[in-house]
Amino acid sequence: MRRTEALRRLARETRLSPEQLIAPIFCTPGKGVRDPIGSMPGVERWSPDVCAEKAREWVKLGIGGVLLFGIPDSKDATGTSGTDPNGIVPATVKAIKDAAPDLVVVTDVCLCEYTDHGHCGVIEGSEVHNDKTLPLLAKQALAHARAGADIVAPSDMMDGRVGAIRDALDEAGLTGTPILSYASKYASAFYGPFREAAGSAPREGNRRGYQMDPANAREAMREIRLDLDEGADLILVKPAISYLDILARAREITEVPVWAYNVSGEYAMIKAAAARGWLNEEAAMMETLISIRRAGADAIVTYFSVDAAKVLGR
Ligand code: PBG
Repeated sequence: MRRTEALRRLARETRLSPEQLIAPIFCTPGKGVRDPIGSMPGVERWSPDVCAEKAREWVKLGIGGVLLFGIPDSKDATGTSGTDPNGIVPATVKAIKDAAPDLVVVTDVCLCEYTDHGHCGVIEGSEVHNDKTLPLLAKQALAHARAGADIVAPSDMMDGRVGAIRDALDEAGLTGTPILSYASKYASAFYGPFREAAGSAPREGNRRGYQMDPANAREAMREIRLDLDEGADLILVKPAISYLDILARAREITEVPVWAYNVSGEYAMIKAAAARGWLNEEAAMMETLISIRRAGADAIVTYFSVDAAKVLGR
């Protein structure tokens, strides 16, 4: 069954299509802004008008959606710019929805892009205070949903945030807005390029007090179950490539959609090797994406979304 392409196509167990790809977007205030990110070739920070223009193009490629990260003008200790209903993410959601109403817009809910210390929550003493962070995350999710986000996606790893966000959305009458929980997010070195893009590297310390230990798999299943109990509608495993076993186990313990995040460092590795002629970029990209699907991901958040959708559409 491997002799010809026609036979291989027939025998193929896993498929990848553009609607299973979610493209991250870094949005920043201004007009006509296209600001390249050094460690992520091909990825730029865009102002809302540029995001809208891209959305119009991308919806034609059939990609599944976009995931918005805000890069605000100002940062403070409690991430005030992240909870502002007129902040950069709500403004970009509105611009994209006006331009391409059918493109699914997911928003990242987390304080790290908006805090001056770079941590994902409020700091008390030398630690992130879990419970004091929850109302801020709920406020942020509400601002995104009110602006028209189709899905809100908490990535902070505080305990109880899915429940807090669900309650806030329901009280505001936004009962139809689903929550994609980054249920098992590991404290990973592969977020390096993203932190450059978002200027969100912690000023002091690291995120190991709230993100998961890469050595743990059972703990990931517990995190997933807790988030499902709190009302998560979809769950996400992050990063993807070094965590395919986690994806496969997640797929087995839940019926809700399981997404994977093929993170910035995973993208940068392929880009860097390809730039040196050490890897065939397109082949490595497609093999990576199909392997993440094979492991159990229903959809993949990836910086390769647009390139891969173009390959799939050929
Ligand atoms: C936190 C967040 C991070 C990423 C997505 N959401 C960074 C972090 O936890 O440090 C990383 C994504 C990537 O590396 O592509 N808001």
